[in-house]
Amino acid sequence: MIRKSWHEKVAYQIYPKSFCDSNGDGVGDLRGVIRKLDYLKGLGVDIVWLSPIYCSPLADQGYDISDYYSIDPLFGSMDDMDELLTQAKQRDISIVMDLVVNHCSDEHEWFQKACADPDGRYGKFFYIRDWKEGDPLPCNWRSYFGGPCWEKLPGHDDKIYFHAFHKKQPDLNWENPDLREEVYKMVNWWLDKGLGGFRLDAIINIKKLLPFRDFPADREDGLCSIHRMLEQATGIGQFLGEMRDRTFAPHNAFTVGEVFNEKPEDIPDFIGANGYFSSMFDFAETILNHSDKGWYDQAPVTAEQYKAACFQSQEKAADIGFLSNLIENHDESRGVCRYIPEEDLSLTSKKLLAGLYFMLRGLPWIYQGQELGMENPVVRDISQVNDISALDQYQVALDAGLSPAQALKSIQMHCRDNARTPFQWDATANAGFTTGTPWLPVNSNYKTLNLAAQIDDEDSVYNWYRKLIRLRKDPVWKETVVYGELIPYLAKQKNLMAYYRKGEKTLLVAGNFQRQPQTMALPAPVGEVLLNNLDGFQVEDGQLCLEGYQFVVFSLEEK
Ligand code: GLC
Repeated sequence: MIRKSWHEKVAYQIYPKSFCDSNGDGVGDLRGVIRKLDYLKGLGVDIVWLSPIYCSPLADQGYDISDYYSIDPLFGSMDDMDELLTQAKQRDISIVMDLVVNHCSDEHEWFQKACADPDGRYGKFFYIRDWKEGDPLPCNWRSYFGGPCWEKLPGHDDKIYFHAFHKKQPDLNWENPDLREEVYKMVNWWLDKGLGGFRLDAIINIKKLLPFRDFPADREDGLCSIHRMLEQATGIGQFLGEMRDRTFAPHNAFTVGEVFNEKPEDIPDFIGANGYFSSMFDFAETILNHSDKGWYDQAPVTAEQYKAACFQSQEKAADIGFLSNLIENHDESRGVCRYIPEEDLSLTSKKLLAGLYFMLRGLPWIYQGQELGMENPVVRDISQVNDISALDQYQVALDAGLSPAQALKSIQMHCRDNARTPFQWDATANAGFTTGTPWLPVNSNYKTLNLAAQIDDEDSVYNWYRKLIRLRKDPVWKETVVYGELIPYLAKQKNLMAYYRKGEKTLLVAGNFQRQPQTMALPAPVGEVLLNNLDGFQVEDGQLCLEGYQFVVFSLEEK
């Protein structure tokens, strides 16, 4: 693998709406981010990805962009953005923005012009088809947020347009070179401004299976999961390679793809030596137990499943390139609530999860608040839910025959609001996030779970993350932690997740992923203990005794 300077870094995702509100309107903003740059530096962060802050009607919280060249006034101004870039640079932090180009907003000028003249230049920027009442739709794919992917084109009773996500997010037609040129122009404009790179939103969707066609229905609604077409669509590389060559490569930009369900044979093209992206997220864990029926049909993830998914991803990426590792983001529930059984959630188990994923090979990502061990809020009523995806899934559960109480419970775990509640800075009103009324209520546990309570506590989740980051950057261990080969150890031992990292040195990473203590045979005597989420451990007859949820990292002595 060709070594890149970003391999050694630590990345952090900010969901600006919920990070820090500088003007008291209840919504986080760019000046809030600027205010917290020193905090990020203190944590040890090098790369920051900002979820969308472009002009948007916010039908999907900014993932519906109406102007790629402007900052939404809700978040600040272009001057604020420029200042953020400058101030971040002074601290050696690189800023990465979301690149949302599978679709734009129906309020974008392109779509407005397409509606005015569907046969003109901008009509060809979208997928618009003739259709009249009673005709079958061009395909029966279900949009990600529910219902068919087709909607009547405003102002035209005889035309429809395609949207893979919400109807306010019309898909852009990447088959059209004219559209692609517009995208590259915009990407280069941002990179010329000094942006470090992009996180490529929903990028796998830009290649459609054409001509549109039906697949067997998988629910009563007669529609099928859009994944069926993604499995068959080929040729995305032409678009991605062109975009890389025209934009990212000449700027030496850092890019991370939101790629789901990739085929193993695609990995070299995606993140290999001359890959389309620098890195891509490993979602193997986050999609565990997904069901085409809906969220209500999703079983909780077990420790064994988690371990198997991590190891499989590591094997797939091997020496090809660097995955981006995560336990949560703005679309997922809090990792500590998803991967740890509710009754076992504790300081110790939170640290175990943090350690297990952070020590994997790849680029570690921290989603805002994760470094405090933030948890999912309790949703008491469907009227409290903001996430459009959860509202759809609530209806899906009701349609499947669940009672309203059961339906609510079924969306609790996967509701995207879970990770979008405001950052818990301190124990003052609204967790110090805003002096106004927060756009989404603060988690009620903020009085005890907040940064101020953790920052000076050596034992806190926050300081545990700092230790993990310090180890990654420690000149003595860095080479092994960043590049060391990952070899699973005793992979068959239930609820034990252990692996070697073999580089200049040999490390053993071990976590007892259960409440009960368990022993693990040691392959060699323990050398230096680098991390331990409890006080000490016992070794007896070559067996390491781990307490419930104990996590340790140590070097091994040569035999
Ligand atoms: C990505 C984003 C998600 C958004 C969707 C549509 O999956 O992470 O938040 O809703 O794309 O843009």
